[in-house]
Amino acid sequence: MKAASLPPSQVSLPGDFTGADLTPDRYVVELEAPVRRELSRLAAHATSGTIDARGVRAALEEATVRTKCILAGGYGVVLLRGVPTEGLEREVAVALFTAMGEALGEPTAQTLDGELVTDIRDTGADRNDPDLRLYRTSAEQDFHTDGADVIGLMCLHPAESGGVSRVVSSVRVARRIGEARPDLAPLLFEPWFLHLPGGRERGLPGAFSRPIATFDGAKLESFFIGWYIRRAESVPDVPPLDDARRELLALYEATANDPELFVDMSFRPGDVQWLRNAFVLHKRTEYVDPAPPAPRRHLLRLWLSAPYLADTTPRFSAQELGR
Ligand SMILES: [Fe+2]
Repeated sequence: MKAASLPPSQVSLPGDFTGADLTPDRYVVELEAPVRRELSRLAAHATSGTIDARGVRAALEEATVRTKCILAGGYGVVLLRGVPTEGLEREVAVALFTAMGEALGEPTAQTLDGELVTDIRDTGADRNDPDLRLYRTSAEQDFHTDGADVIGLMCLHPAESGGVSRVVSSVRVARRIGEARPDLAPLLFEPWFLHLPGGRERGLPGAFSRPIATFDGAKLESFFIGWYIRRAESVPDVPPLDDARRELLALYEATANDPELFVDMSFRPGDVQWLRNAFVLHKRTEYVDPAPPAPRRHLLRLWLSAPYLADTTPRFSAQELGR
């Protein structure tokens, strides 16, 4: 069943939280010293970017159980602290992070080229290029979802300033809109066009359509990328946004940016963030890199398919989109 309206406010929904609800004890998982030592030992023995993945999973067993509980039954936000990333070569960090991700799901493509681990850093690219994905710049990225069930970030090097990771419950955002503007809220469940960067060059559609919110009677899932919705207007055959949709889009972003609702986290080296994409919107603030020779802000990103969550986030591999 796909309901086209929000459930009554007295019904509790998974993934519904405010900033006050998401206290650190609900999402921070600190690795114990013996676990850190074991991960360091495994990383030191990694050769040619290959790590003992079984050993990594064994060392992280307890942290993985907690992470899965939070993803499946909690607020869907996890910050795992203390992964020993310092001094690791990128290839070893990638192998370690991938092994960690495989304990939670299956890594899936993040680009139409099938990239499984993405480097998040400022490449100096033009932030106004419509086909550019903003994670290649230091620009702010407003609240949005990504394209997989679970989104993972591993911090190798933080920014000099800015680059704060901010999370908000998309369940709460939708409910707030339902309370404030019941006239506009049904639009959340209507299809919206989103630009597909790089799609047309590959013979794929230039845009795809999808509701911002779906409700199956038990959980309210969301998929939202505001700048792709706006960019879709310039794709041939996509109708322009009408006034009501424009108003809803602005209200959605303003609601997500309500300081009562979001929570900030500043990444330290060795932090790993896992988010349940269907329930959590994320953004990052604009940032400034440290002056050379200090390393630039550098995060690794994984997208995981996690069938045990039974979420319906669309996939973005060329294979899937080409079907
Ligand atoms: Fe993102």
